[in-house]
This record gives sequence, structure tokens and C-alpha cells, in this order.
Amino acid sequence: MDLSYNADNEALREGALDFAKRVVEPGLRERDENQSPDESIYRAMGKEGYLGVCLPEQYGGLGMDYHSLAIVSEAFEYVDTSARVIISVHNGLHSLALLQWGTEAQKQKYLTPMATGDKIGTFCLTEPAAGSDVVGLEAFAEKKGDRYVLNGEKIWISLSTVADQYLVMAYTDRAKQKARDPHGISAFIVERKWKGVEPYVLKGKLGVRAGVTGGVAFRNVEIPAENLVGHEDEGFKIAMSALDNGRYTVAAGCVGLMRACLDASVKYCGERTTEGKPIGRHQLVQQMLAYMVQSIDASDLLVRKCGWLKNQGKRCTREVSMAKWTATVASQQCADHAIEIHGAYGFSNEFPVERFWRNSRGAVIYEGSKEIHQLVQAGYALGLRQDHPLRCELPGWPYKG
Ligand code: CAA
Repeated sequence: MDLSYNADNEALREGALDFAKRVVEPGLRERDENQSPDESIYRAMGKEGYLGVCLPEQYGGLGMDYHSLAIVSEAFEYVDTSARVIISVHNGLHSLALLQWGTEAQKQKYLTPMATGDKIGTFCLTEPAAGSDVVGLEAFAEKKGDRYVLNGEKIWISLSTVADQYLVMAYTDRAKQKARDPHGISAFIVERKWKGVEPYVLKGKLGVRAGVTGGVAFRNVEIPAENLVGHEDEGFKIAMSALDNGRYTVAAGCVGLMRACLDASVKYCGERTTEGKPIGRHQLVQQMLAYMVQSIDASDLLVRKCGWLKNQGKRCTREVSMAKWTATVASQQCADHAIEIHGAYGFSNEFPVERFWRNSRGAVIYEGSKEIHQLVQAGYALGLRQDHPLRCELPGWPYKG
């Protein structure tokens, strides 16, 4: 297994970091404080190709490998988690699901404009009463002739009011919904501009305050049958395989957040003196720095392994779950250490580490809480979970069409 990044990957990292520092960082503290996202950032990311980084060139993407998806996630989250969240929902959860499961017509109509950022996409799985418990979904899409009529509400949706299109999971079989059977869920592409689609924004979040998070109500929304993604009743698998990509970007983003925690802490260690010496000379401070270094290396390796498997066209549900669980928990701990090292100043938004801590918290919950990933890992260890071949697999890299 070769886990090294190639020259193109490294050039991408440099470019993405430079872009994030130029375009995302200015005004970030104010946007975070006022919960006022800047939508022009999404469009600028699209223009630079970041929103289609690992999509094939024939669909308007940059045609780079899956490592590139991790690299842009890491680079953006080094500067701000809300920028990485865009990559997670747009690239990870929506675009790659269409690449894997979509028809050629859906790829032409919906994937290609997403690759260039002309259209923004997001993912609608979670509901007010169904988060980890996906089979508890209440949303229902009833087949009526050549269309489906969708009713339901989704919540904790990143880019809820910004996205042009949603990948929505809803039951299409009443009996299976009643029986909590995952094989009764279907996936649809729904456009925001359609009648009955009512997105809204949630305020008062602990973190990701510079990004849009909200919900979407669907009231008698008519969806043309050609917007069904995959077969009817394949929606649970589509959602889970999408999460295999989304969780990968979350894990990679956490590596960026941890690097930001380490760099801010090392800088502060050189600036602050106590007891007549720089605080970096105190052993308990060094212990916290060492934990950060260890966490970065361990999480980075897990992420690279997933990228390598994805490039080979190999399913990596177990490995992605491991990377996401490990990196999110470690990043919260690193951010906590970074605050500790900054002392009382770390408690203020005069320094970025308090934002890092707030932003680290949500990732431990979304895209599969740490408890869900513990159950998944135990399931594999006990032989209770096995990955069966899918009707549509995520294509490996280079893309063969
Ligand atoms: N890819 C494709 N198919 C998969 C799959 C995957 N990764 N995982 C499971 N499947 C298939 C199984 O093979 C099985 O198929 P068959 O019956 O044909 O064999 C079928 O799906 C059902 O599988 P299971 O009954 O074994 O279900 P599970 O154990 O895989 O799932 C669970 C249970 C792990 C709790 C799962 O429901 C889960 O991961 N829940 C968390 C959901 C989550 O992450 N939500 C966050 C939403 S996104 C978000 O947070 C919003 C945001 O904006 C960031």
C-alpha cells in the first residue's frame, strides 16, 4: 500500500491552503461571531475547481484522484470548518453519490453543473426524530403516475438555503416504513426552486457559525420519476455509501483542524513566558503538544488508507468509519489542549483556538456519532457485519467511464 501523496496532490494542497487564506480567512472572526455566512465563498470555490476536484473531466471535474478530496478537506478545515463542510456535503455526500448511482441523464443534468460550482448540492437524510436511527425516517414519497409526491422535514442540513439541489432520502413503501425496513427507502434529487420546498436556517449553533445549517420542509413536492436515484428501495444503501465519502472528508478535515491547533499552540508557546521561561519548556505543555502530533499522524494515516482504497475502487466502509471516529474524537481533544495551552486567552475569540474547539464538537456527532462508529466497529469484529457487493460501486481512479 503506497500512502504517499504525489506531486499533483501536494500542489493542490498548496493551492487550496493559499486560496483558503486569501478568500476564506478575511472576515472569518466576524462571520463566526455574527453567524453571517458569506455565500460568495462557495461560488469562488467552484470557480477554482474545488467543488469538482475528484470528479471525472467528462463531467466537468478536475479529474484528480480521491486523495485530492481529502487534501482539499484538510486544507479548508485548517482555515475554517465551515469551508470544509461545503466539500463534505457538496462533493462527498451529493456529487459522488450521483457519480456512483446516477443515470447518465442525471449526471449530465445535475452532476456536471455541480462539478463546476454552477449548482450547489447537499444531502437530506436526518429528520427531527431520526438521526442515527435512519430507519425511523418519517418522510414519504408516494408514487403517482410519472411522479412522486414528497412530504416530510429534514433538519441539520448544511447549506439548506443555499443549495440548488438536495439528495433526499424518504420511504416509498408504507409497509416497510412501518416495519422499519431499510429496503423501503428511496433517494431523489429535489430542486430547491420547486413548489413546496421550504428551506430555513437554524441559529444559535455552538460551532460552524460561519456556515449555513438549517432544515428543509417538503410539502406535497412533485418529483419527476426520472429524479429517482438508483432503484426504488435502494435509498438506504445510497445514503450509507454517500456517508462512506462524506465521513472520509470529515476525517480529513479533522486532520486540518488538528494541524491548526498544533500550529497555533506552537506559536503561542514561543510567545508566552511563565516562571521565567517560554511555556513550551514546561513538560505538561509538551505532553499536550505530543498528543497533537500523535493524533495528526495516526488520523492522517487512516485517511490516506481510505484514499488509497477508494483509488483502487475498493469499498472501505469499515476503514472510513474508523478514520472518522478516530479523527473527530482526537480533534476535539486537540482543540481542548490548544485552549489549555493558551490559558485564559484560549477562552476568548481573540485567538482562533476557541473557534477550533467549538467547531470540533459537531463532527463527533454528525455523519455518524462516535457511538454509531463504535457499534459499527464492534459489528465487524464480532462478524455481525459484512459488506456485500453493491449493484453500483464507487468507481476507482483513474476513471474508466
Ligand atoms: N454502503 C452501501 N450499503 C450499505 C452500507 C454502505 N456503507 N452500509 C450498509 N449497507 C447495506 C447493507 O449491506 C444492507 O444491505 P442488505 O440488506 O441488502 O444486505 C443494508 O444496507 C442494511 O444494512 P444494515 O441493516 O446492516 O444497517 P447498518 O448496520 O449498516 O446501519 C447504522 C445501521 C450503522 C446505525 C446506520 O443507520 C448509520 O450509520 N446511522 C448513522 C446515520 C448518519 O450518519 N447520519 C448522519 C446524516 S448526515 C448529517 O449528519 C447531516 C450533515 O449535513 C452533515
